[in-house]
Amino acid sequence: MLVSISSHAESSLQDRVEGLLAEMTLAEKIGQMTQAERQHATPEDVKKYYLGSILNGGGSVPGKNRRQDWVDMISGYQQAAQSTRLGIPILYGTDAVHGHSNVKDATIFPHNVAIGATRNPRLAHDIGVATALETAATGVHWTFAPTLCVARDDRWGRAYECFGEQPDLVSEFSGPFVKGLQGGGLNGNTIGQNRVIATAKHWVADGGTTYGTGDEGYAIDRGDTRLEFADLERLHIAPYLPALKADVGTVMVSYSSVNGTKMHEHKGLVNDTLKGDLGFSGFTISDWSALSEIPAETNRERVVRSVNAGLDMVMEPENWKEFISDLTDAVKAGEVPMSRIDEAVRRILMIKLRSGLFEHPVAPIALRADADMIIGNAQHRALARQAVRESVVLLKNEGGVLPIDKESRIFVAGSHANDIGLQSGGWTIEWQGKSGVETTGTSILEGIQDLAHRKVSYSADGTGAAGHDVAVVVIGEDPYAEGWGDYRPAPCEKCKPIGIGEDQRTVLDNVRASGVPMVVVLVSGRPLMIEEEISSWNSMVAAWLPGSEGAGVADVLLGDYAPTGKLPVTWPKKLSQIPINYGDKEYEPLFPYGFGMTY
Ligand code: GLC
Repeated sequence: MLVSISSHAESSLQDRVEGLLAEMTLAEKIGQMTQAERQHATPEDVKKYYLGSILNGGGSVPGKNRRQDWVDMISGYQQAAQSTRLGIPILYGTDAVHGHSNVKDATIFPHNVAIGATRNPRLAHDIGVATALETAATGVHWTFAPTLCVARDDRWGRAYECFGEQPDLVSEFSGPFVKGLQGGGLNGNTIGQNRVIATAKHWVADGGTTYGTGDEGYAIDRGDTRLEFADLERLHIAPYLPALKADVGTVMVSYSSVNGTKMHEHKGLVNDTLKGDLGFSGFTISDWSALSEIPAETNRERVVRSVNAGLDMVMEPENWKEFISDLTDAVKAGEVPMSRIDEAVRRILMIKLRSGLFEHPVAPIALRADADMIIGNAQHRALARQAVRESVVLLKNEGGVLPIDKESRIFVAGSHANDIGLQSGGWTIEWQGKSGVETTGTSILEGIQDLAHRKVSYSADGTGAAGHDVAVVVIGEDPYAEGWGDYRPAPCEKCKPIGIGEDQRTVLDNVRASGVPMVVVLVSGRPLMIEEEISSWNSMVAAWLPGSEGAGVADVLLGDYAPTGKLPVTWPKKLSQIPINYGDKEYEPLFPYGFGMTY
């Protein structure tokens, strides 16, 4: 459905689309349907193969990862595209999923699970606006966000990318985030207004898969969601409706399956439901090399089944030439009708026109000499810090140890107290994220030090707490992304534990031995199994993955902000309860969905 464009403007856009389409060769049409990764395609390739889009994967960055390096790279691709016969500009896409999170010194916002804990959709809108500005300042036109998964199983490595476990909560954030990113509908000047095209992902039910059905060797990621249509609609389709109403430009299809059929070949849910019943008028994009996971004998067969199911643009980072060749052969052999190709290209061209890409091949902000000041600016960091404050959930506070008096003798311990990489999680500078990433921000310890009126002691291993008034132990999960974060009982490379590790127990033991009242801050993308440990903690807060502005956690701990966060997910008592979600018949969690205390 075309929104926010007058009917006259709409018909002229459609005339422009039809005019271009009528002139396009098959090679030019299939080129538009192809998205390659920046490390595997040059500007010359864009020109020679008429490529419609370029992306960067997580951690794949140009030059020294400065703003100008991004602008120079994208301008190079764009000049090549504009030098082709029809001069159709490329769209450049990236995963700006919690701020422009690949770029050094960009503002890193809390991950979506934390935003869900704020229960504040206005924040999501404003974060979308700020993210769009920092993204547009680098010349990027399109972000693969927001993720609209509904996190039904905490063992999934992508649970933190969801706003929560309940569809109505995810729905509250869906529309505002898209509107913030795009500046409302794609009104013909989105890029001209320094906004970006948004992506609702991953269609559909990526967060509802069954443990043990994971693909590519993962425990649950890319698995199979087994639901009757009514439940699929209620739980996983519902959050897309506000995004579609907000005129989201693209929808990324999920790696996962529904009732045994891979989403990337699911004609019923992609073509019939999304485009037909729900009237989605943008274009669908595949996930990274996702066609390769379709069970078929040849790549050509996989391409045929996916494009015929309704995939419009295919993210084939490395093997994009094979995609082009297989689709060309398939069209010539009548296996993919030209009408399907034309429909896909119409959708792509319409979004390029409605975003204002032809008038602004690079966003105006990207060409301003002072644009460097946009990246990680004070206003965006203040917004991120406010989001962190509102996301912190107070789960225990025996004896009112919190808020900490600023005159107290404060002792801080734990691996996650002084590490922006650990507090930001996955999709930060690197795909998987990591400890000690090089970027600007404040750690939780630095936040405490700034607010405290006395010198704050810090010892990572927790020794030396005796003699202090209070000990703050900051522990949690190591960063991960996608299936690498799936829980498995046995240690393995592509998996993570979901409780307190041995090394962190040692820190807790060292502090406990001192007898000093203990506040535990958990930095994690999901609930951790803490039932055995929590009884010896005086107080505990869930800080989730706060991003670059860890000071927001300190604002809550030292009383500058009384906690308002509410659990966006159920906190299980033990692993054997998972999956456990609000509304289950049997529901005896450690902390229920929606729980959160204040001072
Ligand atoms: C990844 C993710 C998807 C991301 C894409 C591009 O595999 O599944 O969320 O947008 O590839 O990085």
